Amino acid sequence: MIKASVRIDPARRIGPIDPNIYGQFIEHLGRCIYGGVYEPGSPLADERGFRTDVLDAVRRLRVPVLRWPGGNFVSGYHWQDGVGPADARPARRDTAWRKFESNRFGTDEFIDYCRAAGTEPYICFNMGTGTMDEAQAWLEYCNGAGETAWSQLRIRNGHAEPYGVRYWGLGNEVYGPGCKSAANYAEQAREYAKFTRWTDRDVRLIACGGGEPEWDWEVLKTAGHFIDYISYHDYFRPDAAGDPYETLVSRAWTGGRYLRDLWGLIEAARHRYEIRREIRICVDEWNVFYRRNDFAKFGTLHEEQYDLADALCVAAYLNTLVRNARGVGMANMAQMVNVIAPIFTSPDSIFLQTIYYPLLMHAEHRGGVALDAPAESDTFSARGQDVPWVDVSVTHDDAGTAFVHAVNLHRSHSASLEIVGLASDADATVYEINGPNIDSANSFRHPDTVSMGVRQIRNARSVELPPHSASTIVARLA
Ligand code: AHR
Repeated sequence: MIKASVRIDPARRIGPIDPNIYGQFIEHLGRCIYGGVYEPGSPLADERGFRTDVLDAVRRLRVPVLRWPGGNFVSGYHWQDGVGPADARPARRDTAWRKFESNRFGTDEFIDYCRAAGTEPYICFNMGTGTMDEAQAWLEYCNGAGETAWSQLRIRNGHAEPYGVRYWGLGNEVYGPGCKSAANYAEQAREYAKFTRWTDRDVRLIACGGGEPEWDWEVLKTAGHFIDYISYHDYFRPDAAGDPYETLVSRAWTGGRYLRDLWGLIEAARHRYEIRREIRICVDEWNVFYRRNDFAKFGTLHEEQYDLADALCVAAYLNTLVRNARGVGMANMAQMVNVIAPIFTSPDSIFLQTIYYPLLMHAEHRGGVALDAPAESDTFSARGQDVPWVDVSVTHDDAGTAFVHAVNLHRSHSASLEIVGLASDADATVYEINGPNIDSANSFRHPDTVSMGVRQIRNARSVELPPHSASTIVARLA
């Protein structure tokens, strides 16, 4: 039996959780958009071409914000190709994923989709082949009230009301060999940011972080006065050496390290350069991503089939985001449908992958305030760190209900979790994600092998967590 404990004290607040940490991302990549969210002519699509079965599954996740159109795709995307009469839109070569883009799904369809899903749009500018004029025109197309030709074009396209898109990304992954240097990007980002703000004062801008301190410091130093977020991408895979399961699930814990470093960097840069604007972290791509990268072999792009181990990794990473709620202001799982995704479609059906369930559990059972709840657990060693077998985060709501999110990562041992700080008569509801073993997966034929169950317990101060399970324990605070 694994031993673990957590001490809850409502006075030890991390702070309010920005609901945007539960965001999602769709890219023009493989079957994410075409055949995923959008499939005109399908009997499952509505009059706009949106797959209604997908839309229902998205709505259940209460997605607060949706990033689009990429990803790597955006670095060659010209938004004007994707507006106006569908038949007149040009097909283009997509150099990121080496396919062709029909442009049938463009800005107006994206905004319509966001409205249908009840989510806020987050649009990323093309800072690869795009220009500043083009970015500014896109913003005017979306948010202008008809003062300029760009917003008049939107009105002519049948959308009288401004879209009010608040979140705009200053490029995607523009770093790396053959791309921009940090200094070059930071200066461009500052110029884009100035022009964007002069066009619309209400925008919230996400600069492209590099996932390492030198890049991120440069961006903060040069563009920090003009941005609201700096991004970070985190993809999880097992290590080549060591136990594949343990090195994979440990990533959720070790991934927290750069979030803490980056938050420290942001605070230091704000102090050093007297930046008054608040800047937060936007983890605008994260997920387990390593299996289906070979198009020639699989015939599709990145259609990862997730198992229970991946769901535990996702559940533990949601804990990491909650524990870092002070620094993290937004996060977007990559991606929402088919491509490294919780929702998977065929032309006539969908199933929910294992990783859908931790998202659902946090959507349905969470408080708005994150607590700094000291937790202890037996550990294992991975990536040079002691990683707790039981990974915990705690939130509470205004009505005095605590939500203890606890993942037992051990593949064969149950864990006993002692919880201090709940009411003495604390009956509790426990929501639990589990399946027969860590390799268990869902499929069209077996859609419920891994799912979420619920049980009532009499005493929430000592809870048994079965092997390889992710639970949310809901009980009254003391
Ligand atoms: O999400 C898949 C790809 O991963 C995105 O296009 C890119 O930004 C990242 O490298």
